[in-house]
Amino acid sequence: MSPRRGFDAVDRTTDPDNLVTYLDAVRRTGFFEEVKRRTLTAMELRQGDTAVDVGCGTGEDVSAMASLISAKGRAIGVDISATMIAKALQRARDARSPAMFVQGDVFALPFADASVDAIRAERVLQHTRNANAAFQEMVRVANHGARIVIWEGDLDLFVVDAPDYEASRVVQRAVCDQFLNGAIGHRLYGMFVHAGLTDVRSLPLLRPVMDLSLIESAFDLSMCLALVVSRGLLEPERADRWMESLRTASRNSHFFSVIGGFITSGRKD
Ligand SMILES: C[S@@+](CC[C@H](N)C(=O)[O-])C[C@H]1O[C@@H](n2cnc3c(N)ncnc32)[C@H](O)[C@@H]1O
Repeated sequence: MSPRRGFDAVDRTTDPDNLVTYLDAVRRTGFFEEVKRRTLTAMELRQGDTAVDVGCGTGEDVSAMASLISAKGRAIGVDISATMIAKALQRARDARSPAMFVQGDVFALPFADASVDAIRAERVLQHTRNANAAFQEMVRVANHGARIVIWEGDLDLFVVDAPDYEASRVVQRAVCDQFLNGAIGHRLYGMFVHAGLTDVRSLPLLRPVMDLSLIESAFDLSMCLALVVSRGLLEPERADRWMESLRTASRNSHFFSVIGGFITSGRKD
């Protein structure tokens, strides 16, 4: 349950609180606890650093960064959504965290060239049209020696088991395509290398998901099925049969799917 639509324009969605609830639920999963722990470690934060989390959402990761860099440093969360920034400020105040927040766009970060000692982003680029431009902007503000660490899911890694294997492939592709950049995860390694970063590392992480309702909530399977039917990629009856086979598998405790993504990190020399 990594991606979900709506995060490219949180403030324009009818129910932004619903997206906040979703982020809270995701953060509590063992899989994302691991993603967050590993990305934080990969930032190699030192006391006194200026560290930035791009697309920080409700800001918990920024507070975690703040606790590692001491009062001499600055942990700053940037998010394009006023709703998210307001929520992050309120939560940091409640937690007495020194984390700072500023509303801003990943395509025009509010920092001078080479002014940030460590940068992190999680599940942001998949919601952008031009991930490379966003990444270049992160490279621009990174100081010499700074580590850039990005987790992105990769919907090309999403598989779901069903008797109609070919139908699964059609739906899997539709799930990926409903995101602005659903397959960005596996493209990051090349982007880091081409940008001239050094010590570039890629850590793939996979998680089996046996809970159909989680997959439905994260990917809106019904909407994806309606889409593939409307595009003539599956007959309506075949789409219905495919969905019903998942429900049967779920009732009989053998529903199986996998989600995954990559932590990519590198250093700007
Ligand atoms: C899926 S949420 C992830 C939030 C947070 N990183 C986390 O792990 O909980 C994506 C976040 O990226 C933000 N976002 C989307 N487009 C952005 C942009 N162009 N610039 C900055 N933030 C953006 C959204 O407002 C949202 O808070």
